[in-house]
Amino acid sequence: MAFDSQYCLHVIASTWPRGGEYEMQGDRSSRLTPLLTPAARPVASLASKRGHRLRAREQHGAALFWFKLADRISPGQANVTGHIGASLMELGHYDAARPWLRASCDGVAARGRELLCTAHCLVRLGKADLAADVFSRACDLSPDDAQVLSEAAGFFRTVNQREKARMLLEQAMVLRPDDPEIARMALAVSPRNRTHVDRLHFVTIGTTGLCNASCVHCPTGKAETAHVPRIPMAMPLFRRIIDGLRDSRLPIVEGVIFGLFGDGLVDPYVVERAKYVRANLPAIPLVINTNGAAYDRKKHAELIDLVTTINLHCESLKPDVYDQLMAPLRMERTQTKLDMIMQNFAGRAQVTIPVSRANRHDMAALQTHFLERGAVSVVFTPLSSRCARDQSAFDRLAFDPKPIRCSTDLFDNLTIDCDGTVVACCNDFSREVPIGNANEQSMDSLLQDERRLKMVEAFQQDRHTDYSTCVRCRADVTIPAYA
Ligand SMILES: C[S@@+](CC[C@H](N)C(=O)[O-])C[C@H]1O[C@@H](n2cnc3c(N)ncnc32)[C@H](O)[C@@H]1O
Ligand code: SF4
Repeated sequence: MAFDSQYCLHVIASTWPRGGEYEMQGDRSSRLTPLLTPAARPVASLASKRGHRLRAREQHGAALFWFKLADRISPGQANVTGHIGASLMELGHYDAARPWLRASCDGVAARGRELLCTAHCLVRLGKADLAADVFSRACDLSPDDAQVLSEAAGFFRTVNQREKARMLLEQAMVLRPDDPEIARMALAVSPRNRTHVDRLHFVTIGTTGLCNASCVHCPTGKAETAHVPRIPMAMPLFRRIIDGLRDSRLPIVEGVIFGLFGDGLVDPYVVERAKYVRANLPAIPLVINTNGAAYDRKKHAELIDLVTTINLHCESLKPDVYDQLMAPLRMERTQTKLDMIMQNFAGRAQVTIPVSRANRHDMAALQTHFLERGAVSVVFTPLSSRCARDQSAFDRLAFDPKPIRCSTDLFDNLTIDCDGTVVACCNDFSREVPIGNANEQSMDSLLQDERRLKMVEAFQQDRHTDYSTCVRCRADVTIPAYA
């Protein structure tokens, strides 16, 4: 049978049109009609295996040929159509990839692993609802596959379905009790005792209070934050914070972030700080939040090997929209910097885009542009009022904002501004609700600060409106669909 399958495949492949045109359009050949029977499965499976081998070698065009051939011989296999979508995405053909991925969601699959590629591609395309369905289906098919369970759990954690993530990780831990990554993820979603901090999720550090922009919907650079220090954080204070984190031995699950109310690359000490984090917290992800405009290839060269992720903020590719939203930055100037960052940090750049009435029609173009240039993902986020006093710009730009009431998960994060002020929330740009000071307190005392514990209790009792920032906290809860 193996010999027959090989031979059949050889004959079919030799009569099958090659070349870019076919690979993108996927025309159907009537010559294959007699083969469209279950008996053709082994032949299709051979073609698909070739596709997988080529994809592993990053030969995506050639892989596409074999996957499409496999699909023609035995149509409707979820794994094959998923890999057609994935190969098209690798080749930059996002529009062409979408229907294949949709077909894969309902395709034939015997094991959960056959669906993982599709699920991850859907996440990259921002189709979280579809991805959730596919991950759930994968887990139903393979409840005894720790890989499937942990990848699905990783996804559910990022979309805040912690309970689902927790259950999947519990199952995965039974199957692989010694896997450190599964244990780390399980810790991240396990229920916690709020009076004793046993992990941190994000540690966000305002490495500088200064920003080169004053985005129309951001309180930075506006009169209401004029009292906030616009200085780089002093290095001794920075080292004290990192030393405290190191000595506490607390797991920092998501990472250390540079860039809070200012811009991570405007900070003159960004390279020095990144080196210090790498030396003292070697296993912790390091993220830099930036609009990219201050990027200097020479000055920032060393960052390439130091950071885990550059989180790039760019709201449009259209100069008129960008210039309006991210004033006083100008697209004609920033574009070159963004291109350089994408070249230098390919595979490590994530693009984060708050969506508003002004840029909603740019979503598909932004996604394609940055994925084509090697972005790991393009994440669209709902617009927040940032608890601003003046919400006129926000009201013009938001779709249907609702009051936001955070859960106590907020206190898994530690957020420290450039002068050492600890705030509970990264939206508290005016620093109205300080809950500690890193200049004066040890790490332990910061995490046990009375103000912090009081706030935890208030959130547990739904008394958010005891806090002026929470009173003004509004945001869109959904973002518009896009092609
Ligand atoms: C406040 S900025 C600070 C760091 C840096 N200046 C930047 O723009 O990335 C951090 C993040 O907030 C996001 N952001 C800015 N304004 C926002 C808003 N009104 N609603 C939701 N997210 C917003 C940006 O996309 C960025 O990823
Ligand atoms: S969103 Fe970022 S880039 Fe824009 S003004 Fe605020 S801090 Fe600066």
